[in-house]
Amino acid sequence: PIGARVDDLLARMTVEEKVGQMMQLDAREGVEDHILRMHVGSILHTSPERLAEAHDLTGQTRLRIPLLVGEDCIHGHSFFVGATIFPTQLGMAASWDAGLVEQVARATAVEVAATGVHWTFSPVLCIARDLRWGRVDETFGEDPFLIGELASAMVRGYQGTGLDDPTAILATAKHFAGYSETQGGRDASEADISRRKLRSWFLPPFERVAREGCATFMLGYQTTDGVPITVNDWLLNDVLRGEWGYSGTLITDWDNVGRMVWEQKVQPDYAHAAAAAVKAGNDMVMTTPGFFQGALDAIRSELLAESDLDAAVARILTLKFRLGLFENPRRPDPAAQVAVVGSVAHAELNLAVARRSLVLLTNDGVLPLAGGLEPAPGTGPAGALRAAPGTAARTIAVVGPLADDAQTQLGDWAGSSGQADWLPDGQPVEMITTVLDGLRATVPQEWAITHARGADILTLAPDPAGATFVDGQPRPPLVVPCEPDEALIAEAVAAARDADYVVAVVGDRIELVGEGRSTATLELIGGQIALLDALAATGTPLVVVLLASKPLVLPDSALDAAALLWVANPGMQGGQAVAEVLLGLAEPSGRLPVSFARHVGQQPTYYNQVRGQHGDRYADLTQRPAFAFGEGLSYTTVAYSGLRLAAADLGAGDVVRGSVTLANTGDRPVRETVQAYVSDRVTSVSWADKELKAFRQVDLAPGETATVTIEVPVADCTIVDAAGTRVVEPGEFELLVGPSSRDETLLRAEFTVRP
Ligand code: IFM
Repeated sequence: PIGARVDDLLARMTVEEKVGQMMQLDAREGVEDHILRMHVGSILHTSPERLAEAHDLTGQTRLRIPLLVGEDCIHGHSFFVGATIFPTQLGMAASWDAGLVEQVARATAVEVAATGVHWTFSPVLCIARDLRWGRVDETFGEDPFLIGELASAMVRGYQGTGLDDPTAILATAKHFAGYSETQGGRDASEADISRRKLRSWFLPPFERVAREGCATFMLGYQTTDGVPITVNDWLLNDVLRGEWGYSGTLITDWDNVGRMVWEQKVQPDYAHAAAAAVKAGNDMVMTTPGFFQGALDAIRSELLAESDLDAAVARILTLKFRLGLFENPRRPDPAAQVAVVGSVAHAELNLAVARRSLVLLTNDGVLPLAGGLEPAPGTGPAGALRAAPGTAARTIAVVGPLADDAQTQLGDWAGSSGQADWLPDGQPVEMITTVLDGLRATVPQEWAITHARGADILTLAPDPAGATFVDGQPRPPLVVPCEPDEALIAEAVAAARDADYVVAVVGDRIELVGEGRSTATLELIGGQIALLDALAATGTPLVVVLLASKPLVLPDSALDAAALLWVANPGMQGGQAVAEVLLGLAEPSGRLPVSFARHVGQQPTYYNQVRGQHGDRYADLTQRPAFAFGEGLSYTTVAYSGLRLAAADLGAGDVVRGSVTLANTGDRPVRETVQAYVSDRVTSVSWADKELKAFRQVDLAPGETATVTIEVPVADCTIVDAAGTRVVEPGEFELLVGPSSRDETLLRAEFTVRP
């Protein structure tokens, strides 16, 4: 009877205790004041010491209501040194493997729970459209269906068998909604987005996890149509609470309530801001210390009634009861930490995910290097390796500023160097395998690995506009690209000349990634382009490993290289995974969850843009992306043929059932991702020419053939009409099946939906 316990407690709480229960404050400062004076219900950004202090202080409070401890554990436990850091969410998305993503979330939950954290602010369900946005790496890419599949899996993994499971943590669907659609990709600016557009693309993944029981939702930072999303009554009340019947907990983003006063300037003071936030239905207010006095003032001046707080407080208490915190506050468990945090089993899972997240974009046959390695006779999987008999020993020059950059490899939210001011010290370097480490550890003994940095990327300089913003917030330093360094380039060129292959690891650094870190350009910066150009000119086969948080715009020397492999931020085991794929010990199988542009001015380049006029090009450039959603190569080729529909005349309740034959025409195994898109021939409003509706992964041995069945319910073949209603419009459709979103790769079959 959780309801009865909540009612009982609520009836005994003072107004100050209720206001405090709605607050989440930063544990890095003033924790005693937060807990003893403001009675906060939750803290974030803890350390083991701060957490112990916070629990002890809670024990001194009148009602001893346990604390809810939140953290940004986005791709592993970012706030705990020694925890497993997996590939970023975008990297994981490239696996297109919901099962694997669920396992990652489960492993993360087990580690996070052992450290006394109850709540992760993950997954991100934002759609990556303008690649200049600094948080593309945190998304599952550009397609709402893929996002929904992977986000659903992640929520399942975090929340386990139920919140009463001691290894379950609360998941957060964020950032609700439309946050990524900001102007010019600038983080947290106005998102000019209509309700119909929200319903068309941005809301569906959120609706799915809301209905599946994701425990919490977090709001974005942006304003839409002049209204901060924090107080968007239509979105929060009509849609989320009303239409979807969501009864979970809603948390603001960082100081959203304060921002309405000091940044967006749509509320005159904290009393009005607090009243507006409560009335809009927010349950927990993140890091706005002024909410405490503001809400009390609002009640005193009758902007709010005390009873207006009750629904929010009840939802927070309900979460705490569901987690069982009143019986067991789930404090850090040192024994469990030793057993699970950074465990060998999680490292193995991490390596498995990293292997699956790498996307091979071009390959003239240079990969796998030397035709690929194989275990030496009589050795196990971890034993000695050798090249095919008769292959000469090789030298590989491993160059580039990111070949041996352990922290950048982890990406954002990983105790990475760029955020050293507010995350704990970086993850121990010895837990991280860089590309250089991975190749050194994996090539046969007779092979040689040489190394040269070749280029620097950036330095930081104080912003000339001053040390702080107008409101006193620290102003982050500016990124200054490094000039090409002739001596560094000459060293790398010499190494390339003396080698059989040159592997250049280039990309972006953490200072170009994250909240408030959008970029105006997408090019490789610093000395990297000059380095690649010089390496290409040596004539040594050039393999470009793009270690970039998001798709970048690449120079010809990268696009025309012998091979190009995008690895995102591949996590702690990323360098080992890269080495295994380059050497043919693992097959590349990642597929792009987001398109690559040819030029920053093409933004956005997502594949499912609505049908337009005047063709698909600028006067001076094609609008086609460099690499499209869904693309990715293997070390073999798969032929698709014979797409057939079980029936082509369908009613609203039917299922489109297609079958297609796949043949592995090469001599290596493959994991093929079969993608199924639906095209609605004529729609009452302009709509995407095709949308992903299903995908399946199939393992094929060399020479193997298989028939794959794809099913898409007709009920999913929808558009959002002019009135904003999601409907199936009867008429002519096509099912498109193939290895990517590119039209020329897809087989087509027509079907009709009867009225
Ligand atoms: O969870 C994050 C959010 O994604 C961006 N702002 C800060 C929050 C808490 O760290």
